[in-house]
Amino acid sequence: MSNQRKFFSHETLERNVGWLIVATIAVVSIAGLVQIVPLFFQHSTTQPTPGVVPFPALSLAGRDIYQREGCVGCHSQQIRTLRSETERYGPYSLAGESVYDHPFLWGSKRTGPDLARVGGRYSDEWHRIHLRNPRDVVPESNMPAYPYLQNAPAEVSSIQAHMTALRRLGVPYTDEQIANAPKDLEGKTEEDALIAYLQGLGVQRRSTSQALVNTTAAEATK
Ligand code: HEC
Repeated sequence: MSNQRKFFSHETLERNVGWLIVATIAVVSIAGLVQIVPLFFQHSTTQPTPGVVPFPALSLAGRDIYQREGCVGCHSQQIRTLRSETERYGPYSLAGESVYDHPFLWGSKRTGPDLARVGGRYSDEWHRIHLRNPRDVVPESNMPAYPYLQNAPAEVSSIQAHMTALRRLGVPYTDEQIANAPKDLEGKTEEDALIAYLQGLGVQRRSTSQALVNTTAAEATK
């Protein structure tokens, strides 16, 4: 090693913690921007995947309950691009499937299974029994029971304000959908709303991804 120390050699950085901090922040910031900024403009992350529509009023109310009860603490909603995941849960999640999610509920912990495509996997009745006491259908389950949801009426008073706020964030609810929302929730319980939400998860994409598979297959045989 030469003793010569140029002002901005690697050695200067490594021997001077102040410069090292400044340079690290610069590199991380630039790299972060390069990675993150394009995501705000890419179609695949800003446009809904074909078939994906905003949550109907009842499902939206159910989504609130999902958040309130902390389901996201045990359940993820993102299927990764790994064989083990797609075999178990179905096609991997696309960013465009979450464009109407405010906030995102991707989660990061899987005490229970991923729920991104749980819609239609079980009957409504199964969900009812499972939510009231998971052990009745899965004896070894350690999921908490939510029996009180069946007695709590779905929250009607705030649904229109909620949808209007989401519309301001770019979710394309129509005036008619917002006007009809209280009617959709009338007489429903929190349990009904939560089940409606669960039964919708991943369903829209599944129908279109099957269509995509068919189109690709048809093109391949042309
Ligand atoms: C303490 C962690 C925990 C919490 C909190 C939790 N779950 Fe679960 N959940 C589990 C476990 C473990 C399983 C797997 C065993 C079973 O089916 O009960 C499960 C299974 C499920 C399943 C069946 C998934 C499948 O593919 O078989 C659904 C649906 C579900 N949970 C919904 C919910 C909802 C909705 C909430 C919030 C109201 C919730 N969970 C809260 C741990 C949890």
